[in-house]
Amino acid sequence: MRKPPIRATVTAVSHYAPDKVLSNFDLEKMVDTNDEWIRARTGIRERRILENGATSDLAVPAIREILEQRGIGPDEIDVLVVTTVTPDMFFPSTACVIQEKLKLQNAWGFDLSAACSGFLYGLVVGAQFIESGTHKKVLVVGADKMSAITDYTDRNTCILFGDAAGAVLLEPSEDYEAGLLDHVMYCDGSGGEFLYMKGGGSLNPPTHETVDKKYHYIYQDGKAVFKVAVVGMADVSEEIMKRNNLTGDNVDWLVPHQANLRIISACADRMNLAIEKVMLNIDRYGNTTAATIPLCLSEWWKDGKLLKDQNLILSAFGAGYTWGAMYLKWTMDNA
Ligand code: COA
Repeated sequence: MRKPPIRATVTAVSHYAPDKVLSNFDLEKMVDTNDEWIRARTGIRERRILENGATSDLAVPAIREILEQRGIGPDEIDVLVVTTVTPDMFFPSTACVIQEKLKLQNAWGFDLSAACSGFLYGLVVGAQFIESGTHKKVLVVGADKMSAITDYTDRNTCILFGDAAGAVLLEPSEDYEAGLLDHVMYCDGSGGEFLYMKGGGSLNPPTHETVDKKYHYIYQDGKAVFKVAVVGMADVSEEIMKRNNLTGDNVDWLVPHQANLRIISACADRMNLAIEKVMLNIDRYGNTTAATIPLCLSEWWKDGKLLKDQNLILSAFGAGYTWGAMYLKWTMDNA
């Protein structure tokens, strides 16, 4: 394992979820489904929906809070990495849109697409700027307005997704034994046929036909994805534990991507981790794609449950397929 000369660590954390709640009971009125089925199969009770605005409008309040929490001005940010599959537009990047909205005048930035693994990919990329010594303050944002690409007549997918954003600030750590200590990342494009949005890109530019065929919505073969996700997330979590000599006893929190409670439980089982040590908010937000992991970190830290020096395993699986895990020692003072 390569040891960087400088460590990156999280020095601020925040999230934003829109107020409007879409409950399972609301969905019962829209498609042939029911609360009991959704809770039993996924663990979801409700999700949030952004009625007006775009993905940048989810990210902006989260970043504004980061600046306040850390007591810094917008001109102090060096890089902005926005992980999303629902950018405001193809171009300019959502990073550029946010840079202008918040006047991050000394920052450059870009969007990164890795679906539900986006935030982990973003953390790894963001850490490189810190570890190389070239940048001091890197914002990594996971933001998705999944309601923009969800077909609310398709019961297979519309029950799963919600809108939210989460963000962290990465800075160099004074403690070399803390911060983002290790990661294992994967992708396998052979999984592309099971979870995708076909339309709108250069392969299927928008036409009346692509709209009629619903190419601009999420398609998922749930059963196929479930089988691979359950193994992939557990494998990669176990792998990162083994290579860092971690056990279920010395891991304080599993911070899993929130796609399905059954996938998360299987992952915790493989890690020999009690479910009490798993950050879970899928019941209240559903799958918010790139936002799930920072949304957990932010809620747990603000609730005083995520404490300084705790050992965290972050783990995700998503479209691509993409997947990975990270070992993070938390360095923020208690909230
Ligand atoms: N309400 C009621 N019934 C539903 C339903 C809904 N919302 N959605 C599907 N069903 C039905 C199916 O039509 C099927 O009926 P049939 O047996 O008559 O054909 C039955 O319920 C079982 O469907 P199935 O797809 O086998 O359910 P499942 O247990 O696999 O759960 C998912 C479906 C989507 C919840 C699950 O497959 C899943 O979570 N997949 C992975 C999601 C994921 O991790 N994504 C990756 C990263 S984002």
